[in-house]
Amino acid sequence: MKLLQDKVLSEGIVLSEQVLKVDSFLNHQMDPVLMKEVGKEFARLFQAEGITKVLTIESSGIAPAIMASLELEVPMIFARKQKSLTLREDIYVEKVYSFTKEQSNDVTVSKKFLFPNDRVLIIDDFLAHGEAALGLARIAEQAGASVAGIGIVIEKSFQSGAKRIQDAGYRVESLVRIASLAGGKVTFMTEETVH
Ligand code: G4P
Repeated sequence: MKLLQDKVLSEGIVLSEQVLKVDSFLNHQMDPVLMKEVGKEFARLFQAEGITKVLTIESSGIAPAIMASLELEVPMIFARKQKSLTLREDIYVEKVYSFTKEQSNDVTVSKKFLFPNDRVLIIDDFLAHGEAALGLARIAEQAGASVAGIGIVIEKSFQSGAKRIQDAGYRVESLVRIASLAGGKVTFMTEETVH
């Protein structure tokens, strides 16, 4: 998505070879006009899939997910992150480890909002190692729902997430794919380059 590539180039800050800071439009301040276009693009990519729910994880996934759900005219659910939980009957729980933050969270969704007849589109802001997306897929599957695919705003293709998601059998659509952050600069994947 050209608009998003341009935004990454003009406002993204390469913090290290692993981390791109995008707090001016995605992770802290959010750009609603850009997010609206992001939502439209996800809706276009998944329009044939019969999506009934959009599922994301707090907090930065919420903006792209709500815009996609608005376009698809279905509800959006954001999973909550909690430190550690005692067993509860009324929620689905999955443990998600963050390599970036070096901590585990329990990720939860109320059983009130996901059902076996749901066709779920998972959305997240970043794809690094795929832990969050795969945790959300496990939650959808705990509910007996089917996962139509995973939509990512910024994929870091040099990390393992895209491959892990594809190996698990899910369709992944990333709006921009970053091949490298080496030398303090963002290099995108070319169309011909495979994951
Ligand atoms: P994974 O889910 O793909 O395995 O990723 P990882 O655990 O490494 O990511 C943990 C958190 O760090 C996530 O945010 C993710 O969006 C974010 N993240 C990963 N790589 C980058 C990066 O290069 N730049 C930025 N800005 N963020 C990155 P989170 O903890 O869920 O935070 P938030 O959604 O509450 O903002």
